[in-house]
Amino acid sequence: MKHSSRWTRMMVALTCGAFIVLGAGLIRAFTPEGQSPKWVAPAAAAGKKNPVASNDASIGTGRKIYGKECLSCHGKKGIGDGPKASELSKEPGNLTTKDFQAQTDGAIFYKITKGNKPMPTFGTAYSDEERWSLVNYVRTLGK
Ligand code: HEC
Repeated sequence: MKHSSRWTRMMVALTCGAFIVLGAGLIRAFTPEGQSPKWVAPAAAAGKKNPVASNDASIGTGRKIYGKECLSCHGKKGIGDGPKASELSKEPGNLTTKDFQAQTDGAIFYKITKGNKPMPTFGTAYSDEERWSLVNYVRTLGK
């Protein structure tokens, strides 16, 4: 039965080929163009409660730091169009979208604290209270 075994081998090869092409297509379809995988805060960090009340004082503190440290990349309104944005290896994203604002305060706090190149780390330059105040300010960008 030489003939049928060659046919079987051909079918196996074709099926494998089809899966490889399909798999590669699926991976490409789910990878946004030119972007690395989405940056997600760990669940434990995302579950942290914001201990700083969102009021004029904390929002004001956040606004001041934002203007000094964040605006150059994230832009005045947070849409990612700061003067330095075009030089970055990665887009700063858009802090005003529903998608972004759906993240918990804890997740945003974590990202500001840790950074993720080229997004800098702010965990040492600013106190916890100042970084939670930044979260309160970033919340106002979504409104
Ligand atoms: C040098 C440019 C730069 C500066 C300065 C900067 N960022 Fe970013 N930021 C980025 C980039 C680029 C990303 C996207 C990182 C990623 O997705 O891996 C980012 C991501 C973020 C995110 C997460 C966005 C998301 O979609 O979840 C937050 C929140 C954020 N930045 C807040 C800030 C705050 C607040 C400051 C100031 C204290 C700041 N950033 C300063 C470049 C910058």
